[in-house]
Amino acid sequence: MKNIVILISGRGSNMQAIVEAAIPNIRIAAVLSNNENAAGLAWAAERSIATDSLNHKRFSSRLEFDQAMMEKIDAYQPDLVVLAGFMRILTPEFCRHYEGRLINIHPSLLPAFTGLHTHERAIEAGCRIAGCTIHFVTPELDCGPVIAQGAVPVFDDDTADTLAARVLKVEHQLFPQAVADFAAGRLKIIGNRVVRSPSAKLESQLLA
Ligand code: GAR
Repeated sequence: MKNIVILISGRGSNMQAIVEAAIPNIRIAAVLSNNENAAGLAWAAERSIATDSLNHKRFSSRLEFDQAMMEKIDAYQPDLVVLAGFMRILTPEFCRHYEGRLINIHPSLLPAFTGLHTHERAIEAGCRIAGCTIHFVTPELDCGPVIAQGAVPVFDDDTADTLAARVLKVEHQLFPQAVADFAAGRLKIIGNRVVRSPSAKLESQLLA
């Protein structure tokens, strides 16, 4: 059984997709947040999942917050820490502490559009394809080894909201699969690449 701790900052729809996927051999040990009012915390608590929050505004530095968060996370002895809409830039100390067992979902086809407002920026740049990326986290923002990517078309009349909704559907398919692959020991990091063993090809999707 692998212990999974999921970090969220708001709605938590990706966390819900992971919980509802009922992945074999994993236990959702806790859902934690930097925002005590995150809607996803209430959703998890209703399902008897342990929840907790730490308000980052109460800490005088990013490192102090990350250290306090690490203590909370480590109490659950996680095999995997999942960032599912956790809207914090992480310190190198945090990233190194969970090296190889920390994954994130980002709403763009990395390495394009790291950071915020990804859908708006993809539309403004005239992209015909947008998507999401699940990757291992390294100290450099949105740059770690890629586990899976999903792509969707960008339509002429898209707004950031319509594109976000199309991408989110793909996020909900790919993220539980990535967690299942990790839990089953199928993901190997080689340099900056992830290889899925024993022989299956990594999932990538182009969805209408
Ligand atoms: C998701 O679209 C996720 O890709 C994005 O936040 C949203 C969270 O939604 N993550 C980031 O932007 C990370 N930089 P959710 O709370 O409903 O899962």
